[in-house]
Amino acid sequence: MLKTFTSALVLLAASLLASAQPPSFDPASKVFRLDGGGVSYAFGVNSRGELQQLYWGGRLAATDAFPQAAPMPEWASFDASYTNTPQEFAGWGQGLYNEPALKVSFPDGNRDLVLHYQSHTAIANGFEVVLKDISRPIFVTLHYAIDAESGILSRSATIQNKGTDAVTVEQAAAAAWTLPPAHYTLNYLTGRWAGEWNLTQEPIHPGARVLESRRGSTGHQANPWFAIQTGDANEDHGSVWFGALGWSGSWRITVEQDQLDEVRVTGGFNPFEFGYVLHSGEKLETPIFYGGYSPDGLGGASRLLHRYEVKNILPRTPDTATAAAPKPRPVIYNSWEATEMNVNEAGQIALAEKAAALGIDRFVMDDGWFGKRKTDHAGLGDWYVDPDKFPHGLKPLIDKVHSLGMDFGLWVEPEMVNPDSDLYRKHPDWVLNFPGRPRTEQRTQLVLNLARPDVRAYVLGFLDKLLNENDIAFLKWDYNRNWSEPGWDQLPANEQKKVYVEFTRNLYGILAELRQRHPKIEIESCSGGGGRVDLGILRYTDEVWPSDNTDSFDRLTQQDGFSYAYPTQVMLAWVTDTPNWLNKRTTSLPYRMLSSMQGSLGIGANIVKWTDDEHATAKRLIAAYHQVQPTIVQGDLYRLISPRNNSEFSATQTVNPAKTQSVVFAFIHSTQKGRGFPTLKLQGLDPAAVYALSPIEGKARAGSPTVASGAWWMNHGLDLDQDFRGDFQAAAFRLDKK
Ligand code: GLA
Repeated sequence: MLKTFTSALVLLAASLLASAQPPSFDPASKVFRLDGGGVSYAFGVNSRGELQQLYWGGRLAATDAFPQAAPMPEWASFDASYTNTPQEFAGWGQGLYNEPALKVSFPDGNRDLVLHYQSHTAIANGFEVVLKDISRPIFVTLHYAIDAESGILSRSATIQNKGTDAVTVEQAAAAAWTLPPAHYTLNYLTGRWAGEWNLTQEPIHPGARVLESRRGSTGHQANPWFAIQTGDANEDHGSVWFGALGWSGSWRITVEQDQLDEVRVTGGFNPFEFGYVLHSGEKLETPIFYGGYSPDGLGGASRLLHRYEVKNILPRTPDTATAAAPKPRPVIYNSWEATEMNVNEAGQIALAEKAAALGIDRFVMDDGWFGKRKTDHAGLGDWYVDPDKFPHGLKPLIDKVHSLGMDFGLWVEPEMVNPDSDLYRKHPDWVLNFPGRPRTEQRTQLVLNLARPDVRAYVLGFLDKLLNENDIAFLKWDYNRNWSEPGWDQLPANEQKKVYVEFTRNLYGILAELRQRHPKIEIESCSGGGGRVDLGILRYTDEVWPSDNTDSFDRLTQQDGFSYAYPTQVMLAWVTDTPNWLNKRTTSLPYRMLSSMQGSLGIGANIVKWTDDEHATAKRLIAAYHQVQPTIVQGDLYRLISPRNNSEFSATQTVNPAKTQSVVFAFIHSTQKGRGFPTLKLQGLDPAAVYALSPIEGKARAGSPTVASGAWWMNHGLDLDQDFRGDFQAAAFRLDKK
């Protein structure tokens, strides 16, 4: 015991020392080095003056030194040295055939851009490196920072025109990452409305795989995250490089195996339809591209990313401003599936009374409370309380919710307008449109052009007023369509494409301003489910709605996919009624509860109609959830058995950072040929500690121990009840250190 303790201390001291290594620049070799967690990253200025990538992977010794970067040779007469050399941020010029990081056109017709190192500044945990075109006053400042704990890098670029004539930026990435030649598998997330978060895996071949959104927002169809694993890596072992882009507008990540078999990952603004005019002195800031490395498989990669996101990305409220992490989310009730737009004071109060009795922390009224919102054909844009539904305003409902011991949240969709609204009748020019062309409606709504200063002021103004006049703790911020006809006719024709940047910047600006004026407000990012989830919006929103698909079985694979990129802390999961509206599937309440308890729990059923039995089951499980929620949502997640590929079984386990508590969830899709549930070999526990097992739902195998060492639970494993068989079955357990 003493020996384990001492060696743990030695390891801790070693890792602290290693983590403390400050970023370095060696003037002799012109090599920059960043070290953090288990990761080293190095790049240098080569003999031509280009910034060249040297290394990204497991932590090197502090004494290891890189020689100066040497440009790659020409490959016959077809691939010049410039295109073969893995640059940190290559301008399109000089015969570059791979994906450029930056492409600029000048008013005299020149489109050649070659960026060379100029200078750098050391900052606390990284560098700012300035590049300049070989002859023109186009400057690029590359921002690098490494997180000492996880080794996750954040990279972005600021492009500045210091010339007198305006130039047009046609393509701008945040960063390019390079991996050495090897056999790799690419992991990425794809989907559609109500079908988000499918983990897609494929070998990387020569050529490019483009992950993108051209929709004006993040999108359901692809998510700005990737992970690349070596051929021998899997969930638990092997090298994985991963990255995520912090941008909620049109984005693109290109994964390219080049002519010399190196893999380059370039990501930033989507170059499709891009054109950002920089007048003399003006700058363009790219989004941030985060990147990390884990030697511990996809599981290790997502655990690093989760910790980083929870600590460094998510916004804080005053009570958690200096805490290591934000608070676990309140358990919410949401009215959408119960009442849809038929909301009114009496109906919502009836739901709130039931919700409070279940042990719910927050009551959220969804769509339908404003304007002439009887259906989705009208009302968006008119953010006044509907006097027919709420004759005395929202106050009586909010007061009632408070008196029941819950706080109050409200649904809004600020960036949208229905043509049938007072706002549109007054300001038809406020929507994205090309004058004289059709305005394509989706869900009978149009997109307000948030890039316009007047629209920005309107949206900020009504939200601020809503929060000033009502005691609202939480906004569910929805966004229910993608762009079409994205014109911005206030600007000259050659500048209108700025909408792709300014819209999203204004969205972030409004969110930041609202949070500043109302420091306690919490916000959910929803876009018809998971259409706007990325590390850009997560700087301003506390949680996300991953999908409108609330089928508890489908949610298992969606939650699995989501967990590769984003933490459980932000992953809302409601328990809704059965049969499910989408799949018409019938499942038991414990199964639905446990599926949602894998995330940040909510209830979205018509609880007024629940039987006493259902009420008692939900109440019991909500109480059990409250006790272990920090471990579930902020602990280390181990995907023990994936539900993907029609797996008969699935299981997850979370362990709190102190390794004093663990929670296990197990699900059966449908038992086949009498097969029992496999023994679950747990992970991440302290092998020397003793843990007591207690069921949250279901039973362990009769006769198996309930108190055993971490070593037992990890090596021997947890055996579930022999009778744990059937269709849509679920069990959950907690282990507490004795
Ligand atoms: C979107 C959301 C739903 C609900 C409806 C309301 O589809 O994802 O949860 O809020 O809008 O119209």
